[in-house]
Amino acid sequence: MVTAEFNPLTPEALADPYPMYRELLAHNPVSWNSTFQTWVFTRYEDVDAILTHQQTSADRRSGSNSFAEMQRKYIEEHPEDLFVRAPTMLTADPPEHTRLRRLVSKAFTPRAVENLRPRIQSIVDEILDDVAGDGEMDLVQTVGYPLPVIVIAEMLGVPTKDRAKFKEWSDDIVATLGGPFTPQDVLQAAEKARHALVEYLSGVIEERRKDPQDDLISGLIAAEDEGTALSTQEIYSTTILLLVAGNETTTHLIDNGMLALLKNPEQMQLLRDDPSLIKSAVEELLRFIGPVQATGRTFTEDAEIGGQALKARESTLVLLGAANHDPAKWGDNADKLDVTRNPVDHVGLGDGIHFCLGAPLARAEAQITISTLLERFPKLKLAVDEPEWGGTFIIRGVKSLPLTF
Ligand code: HEM
Repeated sequence: MVTAEFNPLTPEALADPYPMYRELLAHNPVSWNSTFQTWVFTRYEDVDAILTHQQTSADRRSGSNSFAEMQRKYIEEHPEDLFVRAPTMLTADPPEHTRLRRLVSKAFTPRAVENLRPRIQSIVDEILDDVAGDGEMDLVQTVGYPLPVIVIAEMLGVPTKDRAKFKEWSDDIVATLGGPFTPQDVLQAAEKARHALVEYLSGVIEERRKDPQDDLISGLIAAEDEGTALSTQEIYSTTILLLVAGNETTTHLIDNGMLALLKNPEQMQLLRDDPSLIKSAVEELLRFIGPVQATGRTFTEDAEIGGQALKARESTLVLLGAANHDPAKWGDNADKLDVTRNPVDHVGLGDGIHFCLGAPLARAEAQITISTLLERFPKLKLAVDEPEWGGTFIIRGVKSLPLTF
């Protein structure tokens, strides 16, 4: 069977990519895509092999295709663009990646996140107290959107009064994650936002250098590893990474997750009947409807994955959303939501050395929010048949989620 080239940018695929993934998994699990100039992988086994492969680079500029070339050119022409120039751990390779991740992990520990749970709970409670009497809300605007930025801003040590600005800058930067076809005005807005953030952060960093507090920015300044602390530039780029990587993704996990539960009332009932299923349920939501649908790697040496020979410097696009629905891994009911499944090895948070550093925080926020919504609102219902999907083909989420309760 001849299938059309993978195109994640059609309105149908943006609204629901899963039929396209099914088609690819069944008939075209590995394909060359001439538009994106990359190999596209869908099978769980292949995707996971690439994410954990040692001969790969996460640096999107290292490839031989014209998009990588464009990025290299951009950096040459914009030496002042701090964020693009400074490597973040997300796109760095060892040993640079190892150094950055180890330093940042010191300030961003799973234990610090565990200690934050009561604070996350009280933020969620306060937000829901405000709307409890209304009988209706847009979950995106009310909870999904504000919660992650409040939490990360508090962790970083950003004053409450600056949160709205922070969120705007973060959104402008996240909007460029749609791949190589991001429109020029979106790219320009992102560049402006990065400059504004760096300028703002320079003030906060200076204050913390003089007067350290119990917050992440002070932690990043203090992080030392065999005598090599983070440079000022790395503190900027890391702070921006934490902000950008953690906001929209967590918003979408909460909103997409609640949508999936509301559309599968028997699964929602299982969770209501046994709230201890919440950890398993959030893993299943990350598998079933996770917000990060794809990521990329470039091979540094010739390799063979899933029977396909790859040349050094060729790019790969790994479809996490497809791998998370691969029947070869998840069985015939791969496309069904099952909150008892506990799919701990899904790839919704990546795998290998770049596995999501913010995973404990994302999980805590989603677990607390979803549990609290179910506990407080026994009559929670969707107020629309199908909400509108926004985001990009890489980071996917609903634009709004009107609910009644
Ligand atoms: C539901 C929410 C989230 C999802 C679905 C998610 C997903 C991911 C994925 C798939 C990766 C791997 C990317 C790759 O391999 O190319 C990743 C990496 C990362 N994430 Fe998350 N993330 C979430 C929330 C967060 C939060 C809350 C933070 C921090 C505040 C965060 C910080 C990071 C960082 C720093 C990396 C890079 C790690 C490295 O390169 O070593 N993420 N995330």
